[in-house]
Amino acid sequence: MATLLVALLTILSLVVVGIEAGQKVIISLLDSAIAKGAVCLDGTPPAYAYRPGFGDGVDNWHVYLEGGGWCWNLEQCLGRAKIPLGSSAKLISTNNGSVPFQGMLDDNSTFNPDFHNWHVFKIFYCDGSSFMSDVEDVDPKHNLTYRGARIYDAMMDELLRIGMGNAKNALLSGSSAGGLATTLHCDKFQSLFHNTTRVKCISDSGFFIRGEHFIGGEWRDSFFSRVVSTHGLTNTLPTTCTSKFSPALCLFPENLVPDVQTPLFLIESAFDSYQISLTLYQDRSQSWINCIRNLMSCNLTEIEIMKDFRFTFINTLKSTIANSSSRRGYFVHNCYRHGHIEEIRGSTCSLIVGNGLANKNIAEAVGDWYFDRSEFQEMDMLNNLPRNCTGDDLPILEKKCSDYYIHHQMP
Ligand SMILES: *[C@@H]1O[C@H](CO)[C@@H](O)[C@H](O)[C@H]1NC(C)=O
Ligand SMILES: *[C@@H]1O[C@H](CO)[C@@H](O)[C@H](O)[C@H]1NC(C)=O
Ligand SMILES: *[C@@H]1O[C@H](CO)[C@@H](O)[C@H](O)[C@H]1NC(C)=O
Ligand SMILES: *[C@@H]1O[C@H](CO)[C@@H](O)[C@H](O)[C@H]1NC(C)=O
Ligand SMILES: *[C@@H]1O[C@H](CO)[C@@H](O)[C@H](O)[C@H]1NC(C)=O
Ligand SMILES: *[C@@H]1O[C@H](CO)[C@@H](O)[C@H](O)[C@H]1NC(C)=O
Ligand SMILES: *[C@@H]1O[C@H](CO)[C@@H](O)[C@H](O)[C@H]1NC(C)=O
Repeated sequence: MATLLVALLTILSLVVVGIEAGQKVIISLLDSAIAKGAVCLDGTPPAYAYRPGFGDGVDNWHVYLEGGGWCWNLEQCLGRAKIPLGSSAKLISTNNGSVPFQGMLDDNSTFNPDFHNWHVFKIFYCDGSSFMSDVEDVDPKHNLTYRGARIYDAMMDELLRIGMGNAKNALLSGSSAGGLATTLHCDKFQSLFHNTTRVKCISDSGFFIRGEHFIGGEWRDSFFSRVVSTHGLTNTLPTTCTSKFSPALCLFPENLVPDVQTPLFLIESAFDSYQISLTLYQDRSQSWINCIRNLMSCNLTEIEIMKDFRFTFINTLKSTIANSSSRRGYFVHNCYRHGHIEEIRGSTCSLIVGNGLANKNIAEAVGDWYFDRSEFQEMDMLNNLPRNCTGDDLPILEKKCSDYYIHHQMP
C-alpha cells in the first residue's frame, strides 16, 4: 500500500524537473482553527502561506488549494499523519518554514502578467479527503482527526477577516486532489462574495475519470468508495450529486462538474500522468513501470493503452461539459504530466516547452477566460500520442519565456 504513495511521489518528482526559483513565502499556522476543531489528521492546526496583493492587484484574491492524493484506510491515514500531507508540524520542519510561490503564484510580472500582484493564499492539504471530512469524534485509539471541511471553512473565515470579502476579483484554484476540492467547494466559495465580485474557479488536473469500462474501473470505484467510508463523507458531499448517485460516485468530477453554477475552468492533460501511472494497474509489470517512468521505453501495446486512456478521458470530459449548466473553459493538452498552476513550465511558460493551444500559454488562456477577454475552450485533437514537454533547463526557459512576454504585451 505504501508503494502507491512512493510511486505517486516518484511520478511527481519526474514531472518537476529542476528546482525553480520564485520568492519564498512563510508558512503560517491558523491557530484560531483549533477552537473550531479544524485540525489536520494528527491534530496540529492547519497551515497556509499568504502573500498580500500590491499595486492594482490589491482588490484581487487567488486562493489555492494544495493537492496530494487521498488516504483511503486507517493505515494510510496513520502514515499520512506523520508526513507534511497530514501534519503541519511536519510541513514546517520539512520545508524549513517557507515555500516558493511559482508559476501562476509568482509575483514577477515578467512570468505571470495577469495574476502576479494578486493576494495569494495557499492552503496546505493535511486532511487526506480533498477538504471534505467532518467527523466529530476523534479516533480514540489512533488519535486521528478527520476534519478537512472544517479546515476549509476556518480558512475562509480567516480570508474574510483579512479583507477578501471586498474583492473585485476572486479565484479559487487547486491542483490534483486540490483540483477536485476546488470543484467540490466552488459554489460555496462564490457565495462568500457580493454579486458584483467576479468569482471563478480553476480545477487543475482534478478531473479523475471513472472510466467504468476501462482498465482499472473496478479499482477506481472501490478506491473512492473507501475514501468516502474512511473519512465519513456520505453526508458532506454535494446533495446535487448524492441525490442522483451513490456517495462513492460523487468524488468523480464527471458527476459533479455539471452542477457547478460558478464559472469553472479545467486544465487537463489527456495523458494525465497520475491517472495513467496509478489508477490503471494495481499490479504493475516491470515493463509498465519502465513505460510510465520514461515514455521512450513504452512498447506499442503500452502506447495503445495510453491512447485508449486518452480516448476515454476526452469522451468523459466532453459529455461532462455538454451536460454542464453553464459554459466551461478548458485547456486539454497531450503532454504527459499532472499539475500545472504552481510551475512555470506548467502554466505561465507552457507554450515555451511545447504545451500551447491556440498559440497561448496555459496562464494566458486562463487569463483570457478569467478577465472575459475571450472564451477559451481548446482540446488538442491532433496529437493522439503522449508527449514529453519538459523543455529546457530553468535559466534558458526563463530567458525564452521573458522574451516571449516582452513581444506579446498583454492589453
Ligand atoms: C492526541 O493528539 C493531541 C493533539 O496533538 C495530543 O495533545 C494528545 O496528547 C494525543 N493523545 C494521544 C493518546 O496520543
Ligand atoms: C532545510 O534546511 C536543511 C539544513 O540547512 C537543508 O539540508 C534542507 O535541504 C532544507 N530543505 C529545504 C526544503 O529547503
Ligand atoms: C523578474 O524576473 C526577471 C528575470 O529573471 C528579472 O530580471 C526581474 O528583475 C524580475 N522582476 C522582479 C520584479 O522581481
Ligand atoms: C445584486 O444584489 C443587489 C442587492 O441584493 C440586487 O439589487 C441586484 O439586483 C443584484 N444584481 C444582480 C446582477 O444580480
Ligand atoms: C509490452 O507491454 C505489455 C504491457 O505492459 C507487456 O505485457 C509486454 O510484456 C511488453 N512486451 C515486451 C516485448 O516487452
Ligand atoms: C522527459 O524528458 C526529460 C528530459 O529529456 C527526461 O529527463 C524525462 O525522464 C522524460 N520523462 C518521461 C516521463 O519520459
Ligand atoms: C449527458 O448528455 C448526453 C447527451 O448529450 C446523454 O446521453 C448523457 O446521458 C448525459 N449524461 C449525464 C450524466 O447526464
